[in-house]
Amino acid sequence: MGIGILSVGSYLPERIMTNADWTKLIETSDEWITERTGIKKRHFAPEGVNTSDLVMRAAEKALQRANLHPQDLTEIIVATDTPELYTPDTAALVQHKLGVNEVPAYDLAGSGCAGFVQALAVAKSRVESEGGKILVAGVELFSRMMNWKDRNTCVLFGDGAGAAIVAETKSQSEILATYAGTDGSKADILGLEIGGTRRPITAEMIADPSYPPIVMKGKEVFREAVVRMSQAARVVLEKAQVSLEDISLIIPHQANLRIIEAVANALEVPLEKVYVNVQDYGNTGSASVPIALDEALQTEHIRPGELVLMTAFGAGFHWAAALVRL
Ligand code: COA
Repeated sequence: MGIGILSVGSYLPERIMTNADWTKLIETSDEWITERTGIKKRHFAPEGVNTSDLVMRAAEKALQRANLHPQDLTEIIVATDTPELYTPDTAALVQHKLGVNEVPAYDLAGSGCAGFVQALAVAKSRVESEGGKILVAGVELFSRMMNWKDRNTCVLFGDGAGAAIVAETKSQSEILATYAGTDGSKADILGLEIGGTRRPITAEMIADPSYPPIVMKGKEVFREAVVRMSQAARVVLEKAQVSLEDISLIIPHQANLRIIEAVANALEVPLEKVYVNVQDYGNTGSASVPIALDEALQTEHIRPGELVLMTAFGAGFHWAAALVRL
């Protein structure tokens, strides 16, 4: 028996924000956003809906599809950079709201958009050592945390959640190889430098029109994302001794269509082999890979038994890849 993904679920909040909607709030255009990023629209959560609510919706779908009850879960890992509270973590809120037993629940926080793929690797090793069934979620509620006046960043992001259940499987489903890496020397190129011990939030800071100060050196992030995602993909292929031709679908983190095209180019695979939905959801951070995986399964872009290669990159810098037979 291998350790694999039993089921997947995802959730996108109903409110849709198009590029045209952004033009009413900031100096931008549909042409600029489309040309530079490929993004046409994104989903935003309404007031009163918080990070754990998004996870709940995705988790409920995943549980239902695996024919499981919340009490069957033995652990919860939530990958997010937009937690509901500073403490306790979002995973604790999910444990309570879902009605899961008093099992370990923890966030994998601050890994940027690589969080879900990293969490998959953690879940696999936890099942190896402890057995059980682990809920792994990736979620972001960027619209609540981003700077709505900073056109360099605000048009890029969207809200959403995706979840997978990792367990021993009787079928051929298996997480064949995982890989993750970090380069903390690039921490000042992409991040949110407030709220921690270095820059506790003050009244003056909140009154500043540039609050919250999201840091993003776009071109450097772009270059690094392409290199790291393609390298990480090659590492898991090598680890599993699988060739790219055997992969049915590559699911890269959905940050920007040009980044995805450049990754396809670096891997020398046609774009048809690469899943793309960034046009509909924008960059949903840790949620982007599980949302894409769920959508690809529901639309039969990938079928049970086939090989899928997920590769992601985010703040830190962190990067991670996973090769999975579904
Ligand atoms: N609308 C219109 N103009 C905008 C804009 C917007 N929403 N945002 C920025 N601009 C302007 C800038 O002010 C700048 O103007 P200036 O040249 O007069 O100073 C100009 O557009 C920058 O354009 P360009 O240099 O062509 O941008 P780019 O090709 O680097 O694209 C990004 C910008 C952000 C789309 C691109 O760098 C990127 O996607 N980087 C990666 C970001 C990312 O994925 N982050 C998350 C990683 S997980």
